[in-house]
Amino acid sequence: MQNFGIAITGSGSAVPDNYLDNQALTELVETSDEWISTRTGIRQRHVATANDSLQKMAATAGQNAIAMAGIDAKQVDLILLATSTSDDLFGSACRVQAELGATNAVAFDLTAACSGFVFGLVTAAQYIKTGVYKNVLLIGADILSRWVDWKDRSTCVLFGDGAGAVILQADDCDRLLGFEIKSDGTQNGCLNLAYNASPQVLNQEVNVGKGTYQPISMNGKEVYRFAIQKVPEIIDKALFRANLTIDQVDWLLLHQANQRILDAVAQRLSIPSQKVISNLACYGNTSAASIPLALDEAVRQDKIQTHDTIIASGFGAGLTWGAAIFKWGR
Ligand code: ACO
Repeated sequence: MQNFGIAITGSGSAVPDNYLDNQALTELVETSDEWISTRTGIRQRHVATANDSLQKMAATAGQNAIAMAGIDAKQVDLILLATSTSDDLFGSACRVQAELGATNAVAFDLTAACSGFVFGLVTAAQYIKTGVYKNVLLIGADILSRWVDWKDRSTCVLFGDGAGAVILQADDCDRLLGFEIKSDGTQNGCLNLAYNASPQVLNQEVNVGKGTYQPISMNGKEVYRFAIQKVPEIIDKALFRANLTIDQVDWLLLHQANQRILDAVAQRLSIPSQKVISNLACYGNTSAASIPLALDEAVRQDKIQTHDTIIASGFGAGLTWGAAIFKWGR
């Protein structure tokens, strides 16, 4: 079978208009700008209102990526929506497809929390490599503000809402150079947004579980330890697969969870701080959106140039983690 290469030819993003700075959070919980900014690097986060929707934000990001790639929405063969916070438990990807008028695209959601974008990139790549599809729209989008306990200072200061997207296209030259993705369900309890059910009795023999999802719960210290150990390891594996060394990489693009994690991973990899992309000060942790949102910003600021080599690495609930190395543009 002929193998096709992959080029990543467009990016886009969208965030809600409303934002909360650290000062605003001091009115909700006992915290301070000083605590949040020194422990996390976050200064503000955008939050969706009740009128905003995941589908709209994802579609705007997707539209911007399609425009940058210079294709028509009708040329998109597949839409992958990486999200943990769909507007509808049955998925939001089809609504995004309708909103974009991408009538020839098959669309589905993919859930891998903060690793969703990297897992989505690898998934999209398989469809292109095997020649099944030519143009894939990959979107990472999350509205975690819906699921945060705004009375829990250990989590509510960390998260923000947003969407980011890329277009992957079949190409003679393969610019996806290497990847590695991993899961470890034994550590699932470190980070959850779990359904909690109570029995609703239907008859003497049968009851069903009725309830709702609980707010995000996280063992921050465990997740921190996991990230600074596993992310450098998986990046090393992806570098090995790409037959590259770290000094051949132009940009380190990590899931934007915490500046201290970015710094610790960069230090372990011996990559200078000017090669580390960081925009979490303005957006907080936007889960599946964080990598494509930061990518899009860096591309539009002309920081990332055509053919620059980028390592993207996501990590989070599952637990899941992964790294993908690619050259930007065609
Ligand atoms: N403001 C003020 N004080 C606070 C706050 C706050 N917002 N939050 C916690 N504290 C207090 C704690 O109560 C504790 O007080 P105590 O010592 O009196 O008990 C103290 O600050 C220290 O708390 P720690 O939890 O030990 O703080 P730590 O230095 O570990 O930082 C943090 C916490 C920022 C959450 C860190 O552990 C972290 O970044 N972990 C990784 C989280 C992450 O990256 N998640 C990504 C995945 S997300 C996903 O997949 C959806």
